[in-house]
Amino acid sequence: MVLVVVSSPKGGVGKTTLVANLAVALRRRGRNVTAVDFDSQNALRFLLAPNHESELGIARCTARGLPWSDAIVSGQDGVRVAPYGEATTAERLLMKDVLVEKALSEALASLARSPDEIVIVDTTPGEGRMQERLEALADLKLIVLLADAGSMALVPTYRGGLMLRPMAERPDTFGILNQVDPRRRLSRDIADFISAHAAERFIGVVHYDEALAEAAARGESVVGVAPGSVAAIDIDGIAASLDRLTSPGPY
Ligand SMILES: Nc1ncnc2c1ncn2[C@@H]1O[C@H](COP(=O)(O)OP(=O)(O)OP(=O)(O)O)[C@@H](O)[C@H]1O
Ligand SMILES: [Mg+2]
Repeated sequence: MVLVVVSSPKGGVGKTTLVANLAVALRRRGRNVTAVDFDSQNALRFLLAPNHESELGIARCTARGLPWSDAIVSGQDGVRVAPYGEATTAERLLMKDVLVEKALSEALASLARSPDEIVIVDTTPGEGRMQERLEALADLKLIVLLADAGSMALVPTYRGGLMLRPMAERPDTFGILNQVDPRRRLSRDIADFISAHAAERFIGVVHYDEALAEAAARGESVVGVAPGSVAAIDIDGIAASLDRLTSPGPY
């Protein structure tokens, strides 16, 4: 299993959208992919497998001692989806108690069918306990930031300024700058700043593109329905880098 954890310091920045679209783009590049939702809002299932309404997800499986594979539903382009599912407050709290490092690691590993399968995880915003545990197990960490003043104000202090530090310090952590809009001066300036000072640390930029939200509203991925759109091209570029970084053997 190759574990990729997607997180962000702030909410609403596009994590779920990117997890869903990256999962489909990686599948289209021939990788086996399981997308796991650690957010009780269950947004990932809606994007990747809108026709499945199963209540069973990883939360209830954990609470009942069932394997997470029981929760898997099939999503777009053969992406497998492990939804968070329905859960009572007690089940949610139990999940946090039960999933300490070894149990979490085993539960995630049980989802992969081959050593090179990508398990990509969507998380809640911020830095909770579960987030910390997931990141401790991750092979690759993707941090989503918006090209806006709010996200950029966090950059110098977020994780000790990691997003501006040399790759040698944390070679497993990459940023994604989302919703870059060249029509807006601030957005353009931020994208230029990142490309001048942190090009290596950022695995890619995703432009603001209505096609993403439109595809999402229909429960589709932009790489599937609008492959020539700006966002689909950006996301496929990131998927290509992820594919290369997580393939066995010399790169
Ligand atoms: N590059 C983009 N261009 C246009 N719209 C985008 C882009 N990325 C995300 N969006 C839109 O932004 C909104 C928030 O995205 P999303 O739900 O993926 O964020 P999130 O980080 O998962 O939020 P939360 O923290 O609540 O889980 C959605 O309406 C999505 O369609
Ligand atoms: Mg989300």
